[in-house]
Amino acid sequence: MALYKFNGDLLPERRGIVGEVFNSLGRTDHSVRVVRRGRRFARFTKPSFLIWVLLLSAIFLISFSVFGLKLQLPGNLEILESSISSSQKFDIGGNRERSVKFSNEVQHEFSGSNNVVKTSRSKRRKQHFPCEVGFSEAVEYLIEPLDIRNFTQFSLRYVDTEEKALGTTSFESRFGGHQTLQEREKSFYARNQTVHCGFVKGPVGFPSTGFDLDEKDKAYMSTCLVVVSSCIFGSSDFLRRPTSKKISNFSKKNVCFVMFLDEQTLSKLSLDGHIPDDRGYVGLWRIVVVKNLPYDDMRRTGKVPKFLSHRLFPSSRYSIWLDSKMRLNTDPMLVLEYFLWRMRSEYAISTHYDRHCVWEEVLQNKRLNKYNHTAIDEQFNFYQSDGLTKYDPSDPNTPLPSYVPEGSFIVRAHTPTSNLFSCLWFNEVDRFTSRDQLSFAYTYLKLRRLNPDKPFYLYMFKDCERRALAKLFHHRALPSPPPVP
Ligand SMILES: *[C@@H]1O[C@H](CO)[C@@H](O)[C@H](O)[C@H]1NC(C)=O
Ligand SMILES: *[C@@H]1O[C@H](CO)[C@@H](O)[C@H](O)[C@H]1NC(C)=O
Ligand SMILES: *[C@@H]1O[C@H](CO)[C@@H](O)[C@H](O)[C@H]1NC(C)=O
Ligand SMILES: *[C@@H]1O[C@H](CO)[C@@H](O)[C@H](O)[C@H]1NC(C)=O
Repeated sequence: MALYKFNGDLLPERRGIVGEVFNSLGRTDHSVRVVRRGRRFARFTKPSFLIWVLLLSAIFLISFSVFGLKLQLPGNLEILESSISSSQKFDIGGNRERSVKFSNEVQHEFSGSNNVVKTSRSKRRKQHFPCEVGFSEAVEYLIEPLDIRNFTQFSLRYVDTEEKALGTTSFESRFGGHQTLQEREKSFYARNQTVHCGFVKGPVGFPSTGFDLDEKDKAYMSTCLVVVSSCIFGSSDFLRRPTSKKISNFSKKNVCFVMFLDEQTLSKLSLDGHIPDDRGYVGLWRIVVVKNLPYDDMRRTGKVPKFLSHRLFPSSRYSIWLDSKMRLNTDPMLVLEYFLWRMRSEYAISTHYDRHCVWEEVLQNKRLNKYNHTAIDEQFNFYQSDGLTKYDPSDPNTPLPSYVPEGSFIVRAHTPTSNLFSCLWFNEVDRFTSRDQLSFAYTYLKLRRLNPDKPFYLYMFKDCERRALAKLFHHRALPSPPPVP
């Protein structure tokens, strides 16, 4: 069941949706119905009345979806407000505290939804619904366990600078560096080592390799211990603020909510009314502007904050990644407690709602023309020759519930193996295509294969659980989409 919750916090969103309906009919489920209705009426009315009919039906549909559905809701509109009464805190100075005390019970509810408006009439697409996540119901204490697992310990360092090799004439510095295939092979071992993991600088005198941040933002980011982050590059989305009422005072005070934007997106969002305040915040989001984007492909640029939060937030111990099409509806501390501490995992990501085999994912990517087919084939052939197999649900020893993830929500403890996995996955996206669903299983399986006695505790949760954590929206439809390579 889908719930529709509209409160003051959502008002800017509503404006956005209304604008969307009027600006480009025929995209969202709303507007599709508006168009159909419009056509039906057009048979009986003069064409000059069409615009009025469209306007009126749009207004009717929107007010029905906002107010009508709200009235039908069962008494489930209670506000989640968990307060922290403890004097023990995550101390920004670096003195981590172990126990986080919540003074009253926390309610969870089904509030993720695939569509803004969902009716039984919409049968074009398979519907996916949120399901219950067993967040602590009556949490008195959230304890950060110190030794839930003996996570593999080793010391991971990162390639910082690459020198131009002697005798080479043309050298172009790259954000991802120039990792050789031998270096790549070695990088999969969970042991003390220095790996490529983005942010590679060129020799002195060479231009920046990109992802340039303001010093003040860097200073702020280096204080964060728990991070929720997201990004919008190339104006591909609206800004979705986390539902403030669902976020505890503790998290508001102690969790960094960081939204990375490029300058173009920032000015576009300003037109939507999202203007950062004096301190650089829009709602809970602290806006961090990224200059000199490292890749022309905005999707690939988006993988930098998505995978490399342990590099961007060097003191952080936990991070949650959220795709910009989602609005966070759940307290981040509850998310950490459930997906990491209770599941005793160091990395949590959801399965794909539909596909479980990389073979299917490759077909789908080609069918929807998501990427240059030759480049997909090169990557896929490489993986097959290095042992990638089909997903076999009948095999009881299958190491994962799915070989295809839905990576729009990732929860991480910044342990060595988790950080290594993030770097390895990023390097695949840097080397091959930016379609990260293609490289996930390969990277995971190879890491496990080369480190048989060093476990990596990756927990794949259900897609319906992901839908319960955050509300899903459609991406912003662009008048001129960013170039697809
Ligand atoms: C959270 O903080 C706000 C403002 O500081 C305060 O008004 C509110 O009472 C606090 N909520 C709880 C449950 O302590
Ligand atoms: C971790 O290792 C220590 C010593 O090797 C052992 O005493 C402890 O029980 C282990 N903890 C877990 C959760 O396995
Ligand atoms: C790995 O690095 C850690 C800390 O830097 C060190 O204590 C440890 O001895 C190293 N292990 C090996 C096998 O070199
Ligand atoms: C597609 O990828 C192949 C191999 O990476 C490359 O040679 C080719 O130029 C690409 N085609 C386009 C249209 O970008």
